[in-house]
Amino acid sequence: MTGGGTLRGDVRVSGAKNAALKLMAAALLAPGESRVDNVPRILDCRLMGEVLARLGVGVSWEGASVRIDASELSAIEAPYDLVRRMRASIVVLGPLLARCGRARVAMPGGDEIGSRPIDLHLGGLSRMGAEITLEHGFVDARAPHGLRGAQLTLDYPSVGATENLMMAAVAARGRTVIDNAAREPEIADLASFLSAMGARIDGAGSSSIEIEGVDGFHPTAHVTIPDRIEAGTWAIAAVASRGDVTVHDARPDHMELLLSKLHDAGAEIEATPGRVRVRQPLRPRAVDFVTLPYPGLATDFQPILLAMLAVAEGTSIATENVFERRFLYVDELRRMGADIRTEGHHAVVRGVPRLSAAPVRALDIRAGAAMVIAALVADGVTEISEVHHIDRGYEHLEEKLRALGVEARRRGDRRFVADPAEAR
Ligand code: UD1
Repeated sequence: MTGGGTLRGDVRVSGAKNAALKLMAAALLAPGESRVDNVPRILDCRLMGEVLARLGVGVSWEGASVRIDASELSAIEAPYDLVRRMRASIVVLGPLLARCGRARVAMPGGDEIGSRPIDLHLGGLSRMGAEITLEHGFVDARAPHGLRGAQLTLDYPSVGATENLMMAAVAARGRTVIDNAAREPEIADLASFLSAMGARIDGAGSSSIEIEGVDGFHPTAHVTIPDRIEAGTWAIAAVASRGDVTVHDARPDHMELLLSKLHDAGAEIEATPGRVRVRQPLRPRAVDFVTLPYPGLATDFQPILLAMLAVAEGTSIATENVFERRFLYVDELRRMGADIRTEGHHAVVRGVPRLSAAPVRALDIRAGAAMVIAALVADGVTEISEVHHIDRGYEHLEEKLRALGVEARRRGDRRFVADPAEAR
């Protein structure tokens, strides 16, 4: 792209996928109808709706709101055909076990970014008294006499394990402490939903969460927090394309480290509650970064930042500490002329002035977002295939890109074309 394709204008972020999925699962705990608002209408949320429907729960959508009627559950199983398509389905394990004393959830496999075990989820539930067996590809968990509170120290601050254990502990007898808990904002959001349902939780958002089990829950309504990864994606896109983008409904306090990295890359940032404006007057400068659990830099930003750094001035070093295979997509960026070398969990990015359009694949949600950024800074028309991966994380992507001045269109349901030269 020769300077014509800068992103300019306003964009509104959707609700956080990674919060909404867990809020939907948490609704299983309360007999009656709960409502979750600001839910992105993307495939993963629809799949979570299907998981709940298979359990006998009423699920009805109205715009960005989903009503979940968990008055009665008629099944305790999350089947493989759904878990395979959306591995976050594993978070129904905790609330199902807490409510029904039994849960069967298909064992999720690994994926394009790593092996993704669930040992921390299962280890914690066992310590709370669940009997767990793994048979025929299913996790079968039983707690016929209920769960009991326990002192849990996670080997690693896993987001999913913290959430699953929190949703089990709220209904256990006595007190549970989760130490070395994940501190992501989505955890605090889940805790505030659970508290509104009657749970007693202290410290969510810190590395030590204390939960006092209660006997019952009542349905409630909750507004999902904004998606910090989507907000960050737009901010990175603004910097990569030397644009000027105002991201609305963002929570700058949830993306401080990313914004400071973008500042180091030369961006001018104005952050006010609910809004971030990112302007990049010159070619971005190289920056080094390391991914870590929150408040460290999110691993989800890694591919997206790498696409930006591919056209930065100078050499950047990126270190991926969360998922072991999260550099597979780098080959796709190389097809577009990026100069990136990976060695174990490090990547060395030597910035080139611009990329060159080529047909590329979206390997997963964030690798797909990286291809979109790369397309913005490439000469010519980039065709991204397997775009259903991007749809799993980004609502109304083409519309939002078009509103920012980029010509983006879908050919069939699997191809996505971004042509910066056609920008205003
Ligand atoms: C969530 C997010 C994902 C994000 C990730 C890290 C959802 C739906 N997904 O995934 O977008 O990239 O957090 O911020 O919310 N691990 C174990 N054993 C376990 C669980 C995890 O070893 O039992 C390891 C994983 O292999 C990985 C690391 O812990 O290396 C982080 O995983 P985790 O925090 O659990 O991520 P998810 O909850 O799966």
